[in-house]
Amino acid sequence: ISGIPGVRERTLIAVKPDGVQRHLVGQIMQRFELKGFQLVGLKMLQAPEELLSQHYQDLRRKPFYPSLLQYMTSGPIVVMVWEGHNVVRTSRIMVGDTNPAEAQAGTIRGDFSIHISRNVIHASDSVEGAKREIQLWFHGKELIDWTCCNHSSIY
Ligand code: PPS
Repeated sequence: ISGIPGVRERTLIAVKPDGVQRHLVGQIMQRFELKGFQLVGLKMLQAPEELLSQHYQDLRRKPFYPSLLQYMTSGPIVVMVWEGHNVVRTSRIMVGDTNPAEAQAGTIRGDFSIHISRNVIHASDSVEGAKREIQLWFHGKELIDWTCCNHSSIY
């Protein structure tokens, strides 16, 4: 089955340093795979501070900004692009509230984290934000165009 009518979107998901160090990458990716979204980009890297400052450009005046940058550079992160119908909004629901104390059980933050300063995962908050973030973290050639070889899509 392929081609459910509607808008196909892409979103940027990042497993933060605590998620990588706690060996949560596989479980997190499995949730997106089982949901039915398609992986179109994937990389592991030690994020450069310059890239993070662009990624979090709207937060520069927040009191937690320095500690956010320190946290995000404390170890490697895994950055992914997932594609599918309504993926931006659905991913935010799967990820759960920014503050793990408020996140529902069954969400990624609800199940795997307890404090906002170590909340395991990032997900783009809008379609426009996702486009900006994907361009920031990936070159066009690093993203897969599955339309040429769509053998088993379920969305
Ligand atoms: S705000 O203040 O409403 O703009 O912030 P919010 O949208 O809730 O969160 C934006 C990102 O900042 C992270 N954040 C924090 N990091 C570390 N410490 C503290 N106290 C903190 N508060 C918010 C939050 O996880 C969001 O990052 P991403 O990567 O988007 O999840």
